[in-house]
Amino acid sequence: MRFRTTCVVGVQWGDEGKGKIVDLLSREADVVVRFQGGGNAGHTVVRDGEKFVLHLIPSGVLHRGTTCVIGNGVVIDLVQLLEEIRDLGRRGIRVGSRNLLVSERAHVVMPYHKQLDALSEKAAASKIGTTQRGIGPCYADKAARKGIRVADLYNPTFFKNRLGALVEEKNKVLGALYGAPGLDADSIWMEYRRYAEQIESLVADTTCYVNEAIDGGKRVLFEGAQGSLLDIDFGTYPYVTSSNSDACGISAGAGVPPKKVGRIVGVAKAYCTRVGEGPFPTELNDELGKRIREIGHEYGATTGRPRRCGWFDLVASRHAVMINGIDELAITKLDVLDQLDEIKIGVAYELDGRRIDRIPVDVDALARCRPVYETFPGWKKDTSKARRFDALPKAAQRYLRAIEGALGVRVAMVSVGTDRMKTILRRTRIARIAAD
Ligand code: IMP
Repeated sequence: MRFRTTCVVGVQWGDEGKGKIVDLLSREADVVVRFQGGGNAGHTVVRDGEKFVLHLIPSGVLHRGTTCVIGNGVVIDLVQLLEEIRDLGRRGIRVGSRNLLVSERAHVVMPYHKQLDALSEKAAASKIGTTQRGIGPCYADKAARKGIRVADLYNPTFFKNRLGALVEEKNKVLGALYGAPGLDADSIWMEYRRYAEQIESLVADTTCYVNEAIDGGKRVLFEGAQGSLLDIDFGTYPYVTSSNSDACGISAGAGVPPKKVGRIVGVAKAYCTRVGEGPFPTELNDELGKRIREIGHEYGATTGRPRRCGWFDLVASRHAVMINGIDELAITKLDVLDQLDEIKIGVAYELDGRRIDRIPVDVDALARCRPVYETFPGWKKDTSKARRFDALPKAAQRYLRAIEGALGVRVAMVSVGTDRMKTILRRTRIARIAAD
């Protein structure tokens, strides 16, 4: 049986513009599923000039008739979720059980997770540069079997006892390691019971829901957050997030067997950015890097931090293509490069005098890698009005063809501006879905 499932993942270090691509593909999706990450994500969608930044709720929520699912692999900050629901409501998008389901198996980000994230970053000699949304500590507790799941909130006695024991332990850590005051388990319990009541109608067995949707022939879209190079297993560890932020995370994070995951769309910017610490071989530490940041408005959607900017990196992208099994590429923000005299692509690295074309696992070795560049002439023309690939300047077409040739993956979409309309769809299956 052919399943009508599609997954959208980031090819780089996050912030590739997945929100816009998911929004476009959601037009034809019945169900949109987040399967990992949490409020660290910031998915920006511009609809009729109005900007929406979604952190926990899948970008599909802007489409009537689409059911959004926050899967079991997501870690949920209930304060943030409720705020996001209220904000959408104020802007005319009503969120309820008709268009949002929350997995009963998802873990809850508790106040001590956020506190520990911030304190440990502050104290660490070698910082990760986290978003301080409590993501790492929450996933750590999940693995240590010290987590609180959404379902646990509805068993008041179990929740109270478990939370009491956990807070006692966390208070010892907060005091001993950071000299921070302890938290009060009873008031957290009451606060989270209140939140639980507010989301109760949304809580569901999303594993059954998503599998039944797929088996019933519905079109299901999986929305990856962060990017492949931030994946806890396959990214630039330890400078990564704490989940499997690539297609490998779908099965565990949504309860969907690998054989049901259909096409994989990789989203990459026409250049590259990274926020937070960690090696970035093609980074531009100069005026050009700053210029790209300003033209591309490269500031974090969640934290407002300036993003580090650099050239497109084929070595890192090839790694992402392999681990995700990417079928088609969406290249975003091509217009940001419009005025540059020349544009480079990192085609290989030089490590200690040797040329390599695979990303090294050792983070110190990656930091020593120097990019080998191929240089392309700039097109120096406005691409933002192009709606067909062959309407792009020839030099821009050559640049995109060089990327697809080197990666062996077809560029199915090109984004030339934030608005939905500013998108080039080539004749491919994915593009057809978005264009329908
Ligand atoms: P955490 O996910 O907050 O623990 O942060 C770990 C690393 O992932 C840091 O370098 C963050 O800047 C980065 N990160 C987390 N979420 C995102 C995202 O949505 N976009 C880009 N970088 C992210």
